[in-house]
Amino acid sequence: MKVIKVKDNETMSVKAAEMLSATVKRLAKPVLGLATGSTPKRMYELLIEQYKTGDITFAEAISFNLDEYVGLGPNHIGSYQYYMNENFFNGINIKKENAHIPNGLATCLQTECDIYEQQITEAGKLDFLVLGIGENGHIGFNEPGTAFDSRTHVVELTPSTREVNARFFERTEDMPKEALTMGLATIMDAKEIILLVQGERKAPILKEVIHGPITEDVPASILQQHPNITVITDLDV
Ligand code: GLP
Repeated sequence: MKVIKVKDNETMSVKAAEMLSATVKRLAKPVLGLATGSTPKRMYELLIEQYKTGDITFAEAISFNLDEYVGLGPNHIGSYQYYMNENFFNGINIKKENAHIPNGLATCLQTECDIYEQQITEAGKLDFLVLGIGENGHIGFNEPGTAFDSRTHVVELTPSTREVNARFFERTEDMPKEALTMGLATIMDAKEIILLVQGERKAPILKEVIHGPITEDVPASILQQHPNITVITDLDV
């Protein structure tokens, strides 16, 4: 794992935006994997600025988000579809039909997962994937104990994840219990990955991910085996 140590959130976001836009400029039809959460927000703002100054276009880009909550639609302020529209898609020229997010309202969730996985395969796998990390080591919503060979699937969120993410909801009880997420094998198929980690609360888990054993108890530890991953962080590792 290559590690880039930065001084703060701004520097991390500038570096991440630079790397993502290099891929978008290099490829005729870039396939992007995208994350939500507080960590990549500034990166998205910078990419929107680049688009607005004419430095970059997303006209031919295809994107797949990592995950979505079960039961929340695009109009729900806590849904990842809402987050992506607000923080990125509405500010750039990606075609709506090319910006994929698992449908948390699907009648058959497993079928939705299978279709999502197939769409990623048909797009030729992810060229560039942006990851954040949960304090328990989850990537996407692959909670501790998830099989390394997992593909897009339905997950039951752990109490700790529900507690941490409840801040995005008006009432704690609005926080969904389940989600759809790309699997760990889907993530590992990406050609290039950046893992953005910021803030002291993530320090213990980041140390484990980089230096600890590769174990399904720490889902992100599988990233040690990825051939092209860069961790960008303000933490000492
Ligand atoms: C969420 C998402 C992850 C995200 C992580 C970190 O639960 N499912 O994809 O990377 O938590 O979020 P944050 O950046 O807000 O710390």
